[in-house]
Amino acid sequence: MTISEENMDFIPALLAPYKMSNFSLSHRIVLAPMSRLRSYNFLAQPHAILYYSQRTTQGGFLIGEASGVSETAQGYLNTPGIWTQQQVEAWKPIVDAVHKKGGIFFCQLWHAGRASDNCFQPDGQPPISCTDKPIQAKTHIDGVTEASFPAPRRLTTHEITQVVNDFRKAARNAMQAGFDGVEIHGANGYLIDQFLKDQVNDRTDEYGGSLENRCRFPLQVVEAVADEIGADRVGIRLSPFADYNDCADSNPEALGLYMAQSLNKYGILYCHMIEPRMITQFESQKTKNSLLPMRKAFKGTFIVAGGYNREEGNEVVAKGGADLVAFGRLFLANPDLPRRFELNAVLNKYDRNTFYTQNPVVGYTDYPFLDPTP
Ligand code: PHB
Repeated sequence: MTISEENMDFIPALLAPYKMSNFSLSHRIVLAPMSRLRSYNFLAQPHAILYYSQRTTQGGFLIGEASGVSETAQGYLNTPGIWTQQQVEAWKPIVDAVHKKGGIFFCQLWHAGRASDNCFQPDGQPPISCTDKPIQAKTHIDGVTEASFPAPRRLTTHEITQVVNDFRKAARNAMQAGFDGVEIHGANGYLIDQFLKDQVNDRTDEYGGSLENRCRFPLQVVEAVADEIGADRVGIRLSPFADYNDCADSNPEALGLYMAQSLNKYGILYCHMIEPRMITQFESQKTKNSLLPMRKAFKGTFIVAGGYNREEGNEVVAKGGADLVAFGRLFLANPDLPRRFELNAVLNKYDRNTFYTQNPVVGYTDYPFLDPTP
């Protein structure tokens, strides 16, 4: 039976099962990767067991919060890492809890690049990037706290190979922690995005200039990670249209399309793109731009994210614009989001003031379920 316009509401497209290569998903509602800044001392914490398991459904797909790949990767306080054995051990009980409830859990591998500060770097060194130009943006991720970013240090050609290797090792660590796969964070103005975007990347070696050169480091990371853990366990998140962290491109369509086509060579599991309407980090803006050309070009699973609600999520899947939809703020405030979407139930409202506090409960695990005993 095909899903007609009238009965679409009764069989929401988001609730249809989906086979993502070897993973059998029971629905299309993905937990988006979200930094929660509650991982003290760069270690995933026991309170994350409850947070992630609250958001787990049998056959549901979850992407963990950004996890630093090396000691130069962190850009904020209290984000988890995945480069030391202690960090791997810290993730294990969290991953186990998600698996006990039948979830599929990927680790997001992150390097902040120049979106960092000397205070997070070994020996107080400057953060690393493709460039030595600092970020000019004046606020941090919460959109309120003032930020002043230091000038980064431009990586040498040789050092870039070492950073590729850091991603490879981090992917190996993620598998050791029990994750089902990894998502390479290539979005939102962090290191990989800094290489991709022509308003930041001012290199004159083989990692700068042409589209091919700017995409070289990101694709080397993809290749190394896929080689390490298998392409069918690797996804990547990209935001060609966004300019978060002062990271914009003069031709985002061409950039997104080039990446989508190039990723096919590695046969990775999925490509996860942020909608063009999320030009800035917080609110949607009207735009004529679309991810459809990239969706059509990429041969694997296509995930979209950025300001979706139930109706729009159903629509994008029903119309073939995406296979899966990642929800951030709504999933944060509604741990039982798939159930609520199924019932078309009222949603809890998110509280932006508690997104990035360090409280292990408030704004984290205290959002109510529809059914108090799920
Ligand atoms: C993001 O992708 O916007 C992001 C990543 C890591 C953070 C915060 C935000 O710690």
